[in-house]
Amino acid sequence: MEAPENQPESEFYRIVAACEPGWESAVSGEIERRFPNAQSQSMPEGWVATQIPRSDVAGDAAPRVIAFARQVLPNAIEIVAPSVSKLAAMIVDELGPKLDTLPGPWRWHVFNNAVSQPEIMTANPGRGVETQKKKSKRAISSEPIGARRCGFVQQAVMEQLEKRYRRLGRRGHSESRATFADDESFVQFALVDVDRGFLSVLTPEQRQAWQHSISGWCGGDLEVPQDKAAPSRASQKLYEAELRWGRPVQRGEVCVDLGSSPGGWAWVALRRGASVTAVDRSPLREDLMEHRRLTFVRGDAFKFEPAQPVDWLFSDVIAYPARILELLTQWVTQRWCRRFCVTIKFQGREDDAILMDYAQMLSAHTTSFALRRLKVNKNEVTAYGEVAGFET
Ligand SMILES: C[S@@+](CC[C@H](N)C(=O)[O-])C[C@H]1O[C@@H](n2cnc3c(N)ncnc32)[C@H](O)[C@@H]1O
Repeated sequence: MEAPENQPESEFYRIVAACEPGWESAVSGEIERRFPNAQSQSMPEGWVATQIPRSDVAGDAAPRVIAFARQVLPNAIEIVAPSVSKLAAMIVDELGPKLDTLPGPWRWHVFNNAVSQPEIMTANPGRGVETQKKKSKRAISSEPIGARRCGFVQQAVMEQLEKRYRRLGRRGHSESRATFADDESFVQFALVDVDRGFLSVLTPEQRQAWQHSISGWCGGDLEVPQDKAAPSRASQKLYEAELRWGRPVQRGEVCVDLGSSPGGWAWVALRRGASVTAVDRSPLREDLMEHRRLTFVRGDAFKFEPAQPVDWLFSDVIAYPARILELLTQWVTQRWCRRFCVTIKFQGREDDAILMDYAQMLSAHTTSFALRRLKVNKNEVTAYGEVAGFET
């Protein structure tokens, strides 16, 4: 439904999200469950825009999770202009006054609706694992907006800022990485059509409020390695979660891997130098079963309890989302694990309302968390984060 014409735009808070084509209704469903007065705007494939009365957002303290989006642009302003220089001028008009008073750095991402292809990793005897860079940008819309145009907008904005807000221009950068500095602001421009885009400017505090949904990777896109030597493609989930979080498994860490067979996640953790207790009804690939840092426990994942707290809980068990919520709640509230990476598998769309329960539970018991449909996830969302109450 379009916003009523007689209502001025400023009364609305707009959330724009980029997602994989076909997932638009999952994203708008999440937003509408959080904000029942949200109204969807007509958008090209792979994009969602909803307008919410500002008062609804201001009075909302619940964690802001939009798990099915690739990237989120909170408080977005629509900008339409016939040329790159005019688009850039309008962007500078908006962000200049907002950022000029903030002392810290700011990250500046311009993106369209394309996603990158995976990097292939191959095991090369004697030389370890190599990566093969076969990269191209895959457009996910029938009429992709060129990456070149994004580059032009990005450059034009920086040039105009240099002239109009010199100091501000120098504090800007376009790096794409998982983490932000505490005082870093975040500016995104999503080009959804040749002459139309959405601008989101977040101060460090606003960025913090949206930490569970926004990604430090441009457009929420990143290249996930495809490890040919791993026992299963599921290994990519852990690789992607590590990259998105910016916190890989480390040498010497102790992991419990529930629902571990044939061993993709265990493989990743062992490669990192961690030790793994793998719990499944079926054994892992033979070479992993013989690995000196792997202990296999044949049994029910839901009945396993660690003798002492571990560094990581992994779970890729196939079970109803409510059952996984119980499992994760137990591990987190009992402080059986310091960090976790857990997949939540859905049957259709009707059961994903439970993500709000996950978000509530995790915001009460973690220092940081994300709930996100990874690029390599199908109909599932991955929860990862750090449990509160452990010494840093
Ligand atoms: C998607 S697969 C896991 C893939 C694995 N993460 C990997 O990287 O290769 C799900 C696994 O969960 C196991 N599983 C399902 N229910 C289980 C339960 N109650 N206890 C233990 N394992 C279970 C299945 O046997 C299966 O091996």
